[in-house]
Amino acid sequence: MASYLLAIDQGTTSSRAILFDREGRSVASAQREFPQEFPADGWVEHDPEAIWETVLATCREVVARQGVELADIAGIGITNQRETTLLWDRATGKPLHNAIVWQDRRTAEACRVLRDAGHTDMVQARTGLLIDPYFSATKLAWLLEHVEGARARAERGELAFGTIDTFLIWRLTGGRVHATDATNASRTALFDIHAQRWDPELLDLFGIPASVLPEVKDSSDDFGHARADWLGGELPIAGVAGDQQAALVGQACFMPGMGKSTYGTGCFMIVNTGDQAAVSRNRLLTTVGYRLNGVPTYAMEGSIFVAGATVQWLRDGLKLFAEAAETESLASETTSGHSVYLVPAFTGLGAPHWDPKARGAILGLTRDTGIAEIVAAGLQAVCYQTRDLQVCMSDDMSAVPGTLRVDGGMVANNWVMQFLADMLGVRVDRPEVLETTALGAAYLAGLRLGWYRDLDEIAGLWRCGDSFRPRMAEAERERLYQGWQEAVARVRSRPE
Ligand code: G3P
Repeated sequence: MASYLLAIDQGTTSSRAILFDREGRSVASAQREFPQEFPADGWVEHDPEAIWETVLATCREVVARQGVELADIAGIGITNQRETTLLWDRATGKPLHNAIVWQDRRTAEACRVLRDAGHTDMVQARTGLLIDPYFSATKLAWLLEHVEGARARAERGELAFGTIDTFLIWRLTGGRVHATDATNASRTALFDIHAQRWDPELLDLFGIPASVLPEVKDSSDDFGHARADWLGGELPIAGVAGDQQAALVGQACFMPGMGKSTYGTGCFMIVNTGDQAAVSRNRLLTTVGYRLNGVPTYAMEGSIFVAGATVQWLRDGLKLFAEAAETESLASETTSGHSVYLVPAFTGLGAPHWDPKARGAILGLTRDTGIAEIVAAGLQAVCYQTRDLQVCMSDDMSAVPGTLRVDGGMVANNWVMQFLADMLGVRVDRPEVLETTALGAAYLAGLRLGWYRDLDEIAGLWRCGDSFRPRMAEAERERLYQGWQEAVARVRSRPE
């Protein structure tokens, strides 16, 4: 009998493959980074072949590392960086262009035109999203417009669109399946999250021919069989979800009001809202948390574009330290009371500001500011931004989380976790298994394959590793947060 599920986690900066056992423990993993391409100011692209090769390489590596055979693996779950947009030739499977990454701002002007023409309310009502370059629709429209012959070929039915999940399913199944799941579809701005279908009016608005679209399935579903030549056979792909929604599942946030924050390249706070597609008054997003047996569970999401990427920039751009792990001791050297603020608006600001033209800044420098203070400010920025989202969520929802479950690379840093608890004023729970994104994909596949009866059984597997309780005095918390709000106001391209 099979002992493992294979989760493929295709993220913004790396691809990973992880084997999980039935109890949700990660038993082996492999990871490969791939290059980020920045062809112009605010543009971010990925080479699709680099994505594909790193996915295959990590799958090969992880099965070799654990010494497993085809029969040991029950199936595959896929989770992915969301919104990132690809267009490929159905006949050859070859992409027509690099993937346009979720962080890419090249369609800021096109979005402004659509907003000025008054389409925001309709787009928000149908999709739960705002008109912003973040989402796939304007990226796909850009490809159809700028790649020679693409629109005509798309109209003839020769091209396929997909987010990264869809591309991987296509490649893994050898072009037999063109599908996505409802969570990924809900990030395109082309999908009606209430009716759960591609919306003809939105397709019209963004100029997208329906022929390029994938079929939308449940998050636990039959996505065909992957040709796993690295194991000499085929494996069912049984679970698919965008990475932030997969983390919601991996963190077992199945009850309305339960929430998680994932600190990867960006930071994404998602709170389960059950069968209610709650609409935000504060420019947060309504999204599909997961869809099982045709029934969507909704969530409210606050998306911050830069979290771990700040640490990467401090390390690789400013060369302030050699390893991310050093940030914990560096930040611990600082004394409270310093007021350096780093606003990491490298690619504009996401929720709740949605200001693609804002750019980053370091403020409050004095003669005694050193590396430690700048590093601490970079880490604190992530916590302040989480507080921004918490403030919006409390205003939008009756049930906001009294505790926050956290995951992602940055949460290994205890200093950040304590500051986060202090800034939010709620308990922060870090689970034993930190690979919750991949774990969520594995759980979704496991549900389909009969490994788990239901979500309750999965919830029973969640185990808390460490809890961080707020210790900071209220007045200090408010003083620091006030300073952050002033710093953000100074980098905005337009007043709030
Ligand atoms: O919406 C973008 C998000 O899915 C990217 O996640 O983990 O690659 O920062 P991550």
